[in-house]
Amino acid sequence: MTMAEQARATLRANDRGGYSVPTARLYPFQWNWDSAFVAMGWATFDEPRAWQEIFSLLKGQWDDGMIPHIVFHAPSDDYFPGPAVWRVNHTPPTSGITQPPVLATAVRHLWDHARDRPAAEASAASVYPSLRRNHRWWQAARDPERRGLVATLHPWETGMDNSPAWDMPLARVPSETVTPIRRRDTLLVDAAMRPRGDEYQRFIHLVDLFRDAGWDPAHMLSIAPFRVADIGTNAILLRAEKDLLALARRFGTTAEQMEVEARIERLSAALERLWQQQAGLYASMDLVTHTLCPVATSAGFLPLFSGHGQARTDRLAATLSRWAGRVTRLVPSTDPAFAGFEPKRYWRGPVWAVVNWMIADGFAAASDAATASRIRTDTVALIETAGLSEYFEPVTGQGIGGGDFSWTAAIYLMQSSDQARWTTTLRQSRPGR
Ligand code: DGY
Repeated sequence: MTMAEQARATLRANDRGGYSVPTARLYPFQWNWDSAFVAMGWATFDEPRAWQEIFSLLKGQWDDGMIPHIVFHAPSDDYFPGPAVWRVNHTPPTSGITQPPVLATAVRHLWDHARDRPAAEASAASVYPSLRRNHRWWQAARDPERRGLVATLHPWETGMDNSPAWDMPLARVPSETVTPIRRRDTLLVDAAMRPRGDEYQRFIHLVDLFRDAGWDPAHMLSIAPFRVADIGTNAILLRAEKDLLALARRFGTTAEQMEVEARIERLSAALERLWQQQAGLYASMDLVTHTLCPVATSAGFLPLFSGHGQARTDRLAATLSRWAGRVTRLVPSTDPAFAGFEPKRYWRGPVWAVVNWMIADGFAAASDAATASRIRTDTVALIETAGLSEYFEPVTGQGIGGGDFSWTAAIYLMQSSDQARWTTTLRQSRPGR
């Protein structure tokens, strides 16, 4: 079997009837940002199934517009914390927090690249109102004062759960929990590749806290001891707003377009405050202490994915080159020169294919084809050597975490079908880079 055939087989094997699990057993439900990437992967060979992935995720959307990070379509004992811990008032049951908003970008991608135009028009038109409500939720719930940056209230919301960027804000969260901790992940994956026990205590403390707050957004925002303007989430949201604007121009009103434009302007201006001249990349902001999270992580390159910071492309590429000197494959999730860099432990060092895809897209859009191509070549080499793993060790290239992973398969397929555009960008590569 070729790797592309394996990737398609993985998506089919992880299909639970209209939604994809990230991988069997370790993640037995539908995850929010996973599904956005996975939909783009499905679209390379089965457009109706790609749209279905999005419709299934939106079955979890709350009345206030929030799209939860997990939708529990069917019961499973393989994962903790399940619906009995979250106890939200929604059918199907869901978690009570969100995840990086890649969805509008996925919808626009499906719509732009559609082979079946009429079906894509109808599907995009039908989900546009849900996307609009979701982006309004981000502002109302997470930036009610309209300062520009949205807050994330749980490391799980950032998608980069145990990133060292969260060490300081997470230290404020008590480790006592009401809910007994019954981790399943460490029965399925080597504990050295997963978050530590102490972090889990604090993750669950936050779930207990927000459940007691009745999942009320204003209340959650006011009591959250972990409150950060994650550079990853904010950059992804800015990109998503731009993609939503394209959809609004086709399916929305002039007033709706203006509303999105205003948010884009505010968010772009606010991202500027997250640039770190000394470190040569962007950082997250701790919204409790109003200080920048000092550890450099791969999320710091994501503003380019939103089309922001293109004047700093050379500076960002130089930072990445420095990182490249210490690993064999880009992009490690944490600066490999950082003392707490752990090349095997989840978001503290390993390479993630989805993050590589976004960073490479950003460099390509900023006309740095050489850096984009280096990242894409590394992604493909990692997958072709180590398989469709959840993440990869950046020095040895070993595939680690869960296996047969949906979003890794999706990125592999997208990158192969992106081949034509990629070659075109390469030809336009600036001399001497
Ligand atoms: C997990 O359980 O590890 C997930 O990342 C949380 O969404």
